[in-house]
Amino acid sequence: MSKPVALITGGGSGIGLAIAEHLINIHGYRVVILDVNKERGAAEAKRLNNADNCLFKEVDVTDFDQQAQAFQQTCEWGGGRLDMFVANAGIGDGDSVYKDLKGVDEKTGLPKPVDLRTLDVNLNAVIQGVHLARHFFLKNATPGGKIVITSSCLGVYANHSLPLYSASKHALVGFVRSTAPVFTGMDITINALLPVLIETNLMPEAVRPLWDRAQLTPLSTVSKAIDSIMDAKVTGQTIELSLDQTVFSKQQAFSTPNAKWMCEQHKLWEMACEPLLPKPPGQNVGELQ
Ligand SMILES: NC(=O)c1ccc[n+]([C@@H]2O[C@H](COP(=O)([O-])OP(=O)(O)OC[C@H]3O[C@@H](n4cnc5c(N)ncnc54)[C@H](O)[C@@H]3O)[C@@H](O)[C@H]2O)c1
Repeated sequence: MSKPVALITGGGSGIGLAIAEHLINIHGYRVVILDVNKERGAAEAKRLNNADNCLFKEVDVTDFDQQAQAFQQTCEWGGGRLDMFVANAGIGDGDSVYKDLKGVDEKTGLPKPVDLRTLDVNLNAVIQGVHLARHFFLKNATPGGKIVITSSCLGVYANHSLPLYSASKHALVGFVRSTAPVFTGMDITINALLPVLIETNLMPEAVRPLWDRAQLTPLSTVSKAIDSIMDAKVTGQTIELSLDQTVFSKQQAFSTPNAKWMCEQHKLWEMACEPLLPKPPGQNVGELQ
């Protein structure tokens, strides 16, 4: 039987690389690493590759066509299968809502728009990736697969110095909790990792020596979290990675009966969104009959 295949964005460094290594060495996967950083990504894939189990592709995930082609090539390389998608590529805040960093328009005197690349990478590209993963998962001989999204502890908490990053990571938590029940009907699981703080290339060099090292989460906790989502019943979870702990965080309790009522009106929402929701298995576009 062929080995399971995973596609990991931002897999050339840090958390994505640790997941690639863990999937290959412990779970017997073959892994395709996507990254914009060609030099580092290619070198790491070469290091991990023995017996044709790791491949690197230079891809900017914000370019839909590049990401789509990478999915296609991964399935071909995998012998017609894709079992896991790890949407992990991410960047910090590239602009400010507190200052006119980009200056003002000379004619109008109005501020230039905020550069939202953080949301393009951390959120929009992840949604496009999930959309592509679903498409390819349903072509598997046994349709289905696993999606892992790297959110952040700032997906449930907030940080005033990283508002764009916090917004993107909060949105991912909502996306995971919202999609999981529908994906269950397609045998697709979707879970989010919410690391607290792990020393990686995301952390600017200048501040690295200033952190209290006792507060840093080791990469071994990422492996532990991956182990916890391998079970096909685990879905819709947002897993905080804190030091050596993996904590399945709960959705916030409803503050009013009215809010609970609105969120529980699935049948009415389903009627309202009828064209957008999947039909019974076997009748969806992209599914093999
Ligand atoms: N390190 C932490 O403490 C921490 C905490 C919470 C969440 N996260 C999240 O974990 C994920 C991985 O971050 P990391 O800490 O390993 O950082 P990292 O910088 O080591 O790795 C991120 C990788 O993503 C790649 N990347 C960035 N933009 C890309 C794009 N447009 N297309 C393709 N690849 C791109 C980078 O080149 C890099 O290799 C990110 O989503 C990050 O927000 C990290």
